[in-house]
Amino acid sequence: MDTNELLKEATAFEAQTKEQLDAFKSRFLGKKGVLADLFANMRNITPENRKEYGQQVNAIKIAAEEKVSFFTNIFENPDSSTGSDTDLTLPGNWIPSGSVHPVTAVRNEILEIFSRIGFKIAEGPEIENDWHNFSALNFPPEHPARDMQDTFFMSNDEAFALRTHTSSVQVRIMESNKPPIRITAPGRVYRNEAISARAHCLFHQVEGLYIDKDVSFADLKQTLLHFAREMFGAESKIRLRPSYFPFTEPSAEMDVSCNICSGAGCNVCKHTGWLEIMGCGMVDPQVLKNCGIDPEEYSGYAFGMGIERIAMLKYSIKDLRLFFENDVKFLRQFGTH
Ligand code: DAH
Repeated sequence: MDTNELLKEATAFEAQTKEQLDAFKSRFLGKKGVLADLFANMRNITPENRKEYGQQVNAIKIAAEEKVSFFTNIFENPDSSTGSDTDLTLPGNWIPSGSVHPVTAVRNEILEIFSRIGFKIAEGPEIENDWHNFSALNFPPEHPARDMQDTFFMSNDEAFALRTHTSSVQVRIMESNKPPIRITAPGRVYRNEAISARAHCLFHQVEGLYIDKDVSFADLKQTLLHFAREMFGAESKIRLRPSYFPFTEPSAEMDVSCNICSGAGCNVCKHTGWLEIMGCGMVDPQVLKNCGIDPEEYSGYAFGMGIERIAMLKYSIKDLRLFFENDVKFLRQFGTH
């Protein structure tokens, strides 16, 4: 009898029925079974081979006994497929998974919309110097426009501040790249504001910048219309109202038709049918010059929007503070992604 074959047979054994198990049991472990024969055969084995033979026979015995006890258990406890106390048919323990923060989800959506039309993502530091946050963007010292954005200065060095807007990244990118430039810059910004349902000392913006030959206001308008349709639905309309920013000329505020009442008028749009969502304009030639780009050769547009503001409009959230309180009852509503 070939002990290798028998070991293979015993280890490969699977019982579908109790009868098969009984047959296996008596074939291997029965009084006149294989193992009884193998043990009886021991005396015919030469002493030098006896140790190895004994080990092989033992291995067959252990394999056969394990199979018998495993399948006996299964047939005796038909509810349990493992033979242990574990019922694998019960639902598993629920492991709560985190969810993407609504600000992150909306930021990703904004960035994806622009990346599909060729905007690369850029980043800049949150602690910024006066040049990148203000001066290069045409906010001269003492200019009243600086008061538009109450600034947190570093207590030890007033030359540095927490950036008040992501427009600082425009400057950094224009300084270190040659046109064509087409970027979005997401990030955290800080303002020394009293915290309320509509204002916070910390929030998020996405900046956009496009510089190339012959970029016109029409390009800006069409890009923003495309964005509004992707973000708020294909029926969305936009309008641009003249405005003022030191770093764009002309400047505008962009409104999107209210996606809640479709322009009919509701509480969210204060019965105007329009929601203000961003500032934009053509990059002022002086700003191009400040950043080493020749305004005779190149022109460009820029825009900047608050992510929380867009998230509030998209999800009808009434209080800005909810984004920063980390209350899981609020955060879980946005699902897992
Ligand atoms: N930086 C402005 C703010 O925080 C928003 C803005 C307006 C950005 C016009 C722009 C722009 O790029 O062109 O209020």
